[in-house]
Amino acid sequence: MSTIRDVAKIAGVSVATVSRVLNKNGYVNKDTEITVLRAMKELNFEPNPVARGLAGKKMMTISLILPDISNPFFPELARAVEDVAQKNQFNVFLCNSDNLENKEKSYIEVMQKKGIDGLIIVSNTVEEETIKALHDAKIPVVLLDRPLTNNNCTMVKAQNIEGAHAAVKHLLEIGCKKIAHISGPMNLNTAYERLVGYKEIVSQFEWFNDSLIEEGGFDIKGGREAMKRLLLTNPDIDGIFAGNDLMTLGALKELLHMGKNVPGQVAICGFDGIQLTEYTEPEITTIAQPIYEMGALATDVLIRQIKGELNENKTFELPVQLIIRNSTNKKN
Ligand code: RIB
Repeated sequence: MSTIRDVAKIAGVSVATVSRVLNKNGYVNKDTEITVLRAMKELNFEPNPVARGLAGKKMMTISLILPDISNPFFPELARAVEDVAQKNQFNVFLCNSDNLENKEKSYIEVMQKKGIDGLIIVSNTVEEETIKALHDAKIPVVLLDRPLTNNNCTMVKAQNIEGAHAAVKHLLEIGCKKIAHISGPMNLNTAYERLVGYKEIVSQFEWFNDSLIEEGGFDIKGGREAMKRLLLTNPDIDGIFAGNDLMTLGALKELLHMGKNVPGQVAICGFDGIQLTEYTEPEITTIAQPIYEMGALATDVLIRQIKGELNENKTFELPVQLIIRNSTNKKN
């Protein structure tokens, strides 16, 4: 790949002159400019975005790093990020880390080398030193959905604990006498906070014990397998709070497969508010996260930080909403 030096040599000018033509800053006479541009074309020269970045030029590009693009929650989040970015004339590089720490780290390094202007990261594995290195490189970062503790950067998340309270209280209000929880992976703090919220409510009841909690991996298969285990250990459960909607879909599949009447024998409530919950039979009651608002707010804050309009870091916790549908409508 040709460099700025190769262009200078072919054009018979200094590197500084090529840089002035490249960055359109400083005087270059017309003939010299034409000679330099011709040399760039001859060499198929691609300007190094980091060099441009260092020259104070913005790439007008942000990166969104998501953990699992096969989960409908994240494309709904990405939709908001892209809409707000485009409105501000920014492009978006979308990266899928598969919840893998090394893959996530490699994407962050690649984005930094490409001179990205800022990053929105949905993660639970990003390390404090990675965030610090980005700050030292003057690259703003916003942590979205899964904030990490003691990280000195802006975070945007939903009220997971309050949402779990609302789910369990709703199941109690419709008459459930023994409520289980299917949790996401415990290393993800959204899953952990929802478990905390569940336990804060049910721990007051004598029927509660830890066998009522099974981990479901935040996916459909995991939710179904967790439901299988719960029906074996606690065949008398009549309420389920699942930590996200994909696990709820899996649990519902297992309940119906086992001949259970939903909600008559077992009522179930999910978390996220993805569109799929409207298309099951019965339709699923869920705790809807403000997915679009979270993505839009994270992008707006990041772009204002890139433009230098916002310097302080803040944590934004957005309210969630109980959406009641037939999977808990026992009155049917
Ligand atoms: O469904 C994916 C889950 O991971 C969501 O609940 C979201 O909050 C993220 O943490």
